[in-house]
Amino acid sequence: LSKIEIKLSDIPEGKNMTFKWRGKPLFVRHRTEKEIATEAAVNMAELRDPQHDKDRVLNPSWVIVLGVCTHLGCVPIANAGDFGGYYCPCHGSHYDASGRIRKGPAPLNLEVPYYEFPDDDTVVVG
Ligand code: FES
Repeated sequence: LSKIEIKLSDIPEGKNMTFKWRGKPLFVRHRTEKEIATEAAVNMAELRDPQHDKDRVLNPSWVIVLGVCTHLGCVPIANAGDFGGYYCPCHGSHYDASGRIRKGPAPLNLEVPYYEFPDDDTVVVG
């Protein structure tokens, strides 16, 4: 299937759920107010792959990224690591709650796929 439709009300605030999309893990994260504020305030100069949070999300409550570490492709663990976003246990890459690489060997942020919100409770990825 080239597209996946996900019901957002199934994902509580503070949780990350993993789906399978085009053979890859897809993360859908319902961010807390604190996570939204923290990621919006990050200084671009601190980032290896500089990208403002607002350029990675359509709605600040929802982070939608591929669950594929940009180092060698392992699946990161949600709500872990030094930056509270994702941690890749294979070689120790730490991502923030925008999916941006912050520490460890991975070169790039977690990839944001094309997606849209056809209504308030639905995201369609692909
Ligand atoms: Fe994730 Fe190496 S594959 S740190």
